[in-house]
Amino acid sequence: MRPVTNPDQLAQSVTIGAEAYTSRAYLAAERDRLWRKVWQQAGRVEDLPEIGSYITFDILDDSVVIIRTGADEIKAYWNVCPHRGRRLIDAPAGQRNAFGKKASIVCGFHAWTFGLDGACTFIQHKDDWAGTLTEESTRLGAVKCDTWGGWLWINLDPDAGPLRDWLEPAATMLDPFRLEQMRVRWRKWVVFDCNWKVALEAFSETYHVPGTHPEFMAFGQFRGWGRNHGLHSNIGYEAAKGMEEDAAKLRLGAGDDPRAATAELQDYTWAMANTNTTATLVAAARRLKDELPEGTPPADVSKHWLAAARADDAARGVNWPVVEPAHTAASGTSWQIFPNFQIGHAVNNMLCYAARPYGDNPGQCIFEAAVYELFPAGEAPDAPWAYTEPADWPPVLQQDFTNMAAVQKGMASGGFRGTQPNPYMERAVASLHYNLARYMGTGAPELV
Ligand code: FES
Ligand SMILES: [Fe+2]
Repeated sequence: MRPVTNPDQLAQSVTIGAEAYTSRAYLAAERDRLWRKVWQQAGRVEDLPEIGSYITFDILDDSVVIIRTGADEIKAYWNVCPHRGRRLIDAPAGQRNAFGKKASIVCGFHAWTFGLDGACTFIQHKDDWAGTLTEESTRLGAVKCDTWGGWLWINLDPDAGPLRDWLEPAATMLDPFRLEQMRVRWRKWVVFDCNWKVALEAFSETYHVPGTHPEFMAFGQFRGWGRNHGLHSNIGYEAAKGMEEDAAKLRLGAGDDPRAATAELQDYTWAMANTNTTATLVAAARRLKDELPEGTPPADVSKHWLAAARADDAARGVNWPVVEPAHTAASGTSWQIFPNFQIGHAVNNMLCYAARPYGDNPGQCIFEAAVYELFPAGEAPDAPWAYTEPADWPPVLQQDFTNMAAVQKGMASGGFRGTQPNPYMERAVASLHYNLARYMGTGAPELV
């Protein structure tokens, strides 16, 4: 047994045991070793539009209140009353999290009251404590909170380092895409029957496309890579020189006539996944056959399609950032932000996945997907988190769900000998477990 001890070894063949996916003891240890140590994406900045706007975020036993305290200030507190421990703000049954707007937080048990700055402002019969209650002992516990990419991030560890340091090099790679300017088109969540790692890993490689989504093979090619970047990883597609966009999300259809194949790929993606594209891109793809002669080289089709869509959007006040082709190619289609957030970025839209444990069952998780795009100012739709049963998700995602539940079942069986990820296409899987092992003290990938 030779565990991976150096990230350069992640390019080699490894096996990964099932413990991290199936063990109750491992899940119990995750709370203290992982979830109370790492930066976690907990919401979106635009979820807090006004002073007093708040959301809650729950992770296992812990709950946090994130609240806007000023035009440029957001704070996070442990969602627990310092009096006798009541959770301060309850999420309504069936709702992903609590949200709303408050001038102060009033505990539902004995009505201790807290200002937006966390200080306790009212205690009934305070004199009964004979002066022993202090500002410190009665205020809400602070949680580290910061923003990047338009998201709210929290860290339960008071000694955690800066968010920006945590996110590198992903943050520097993704900054040119101006993700903070995007707004939600739809977002869905579900309690699903697999470990949170199984869920994320279903979306962190392109190796599964021919087997899981064979319909796509009629108009695309999906040979893709995975790369480790410290805590994080990214994935992207093979792309020829001059076709750098094809390494990323805004890809051309493959085949004899890339004009037709791109329109078909866009139509299918829009109808069956409702992710990774926008109405503008679909419309521009449908015009390719009219606007370009037969035999137009693929690189020219790509340039024309993206320039046309860019111009269409600019005409309605939606301005895509400009990203250098080499940077687009290196950034790929998505980043896996350790431990449990995936950003599938592009210049005008993105698809993000997150998954986290649900209760004390390693075979369940909370799975979330959010689709964003650039909207004209003030035209973003109201898109609250919608609890959505698997059968009501876009068909392409249902194909992934089918695998996720079946993988969890298979991994829990006595006959499973450990995963053998593709060292080139599924390296993000090995990267996740290499980094998890550094926090958990177990489960490092083993070199074959
Ligand atoms: S537990 Fe909150 S006021 Fe008593
Ligand atoms: Fe998939």
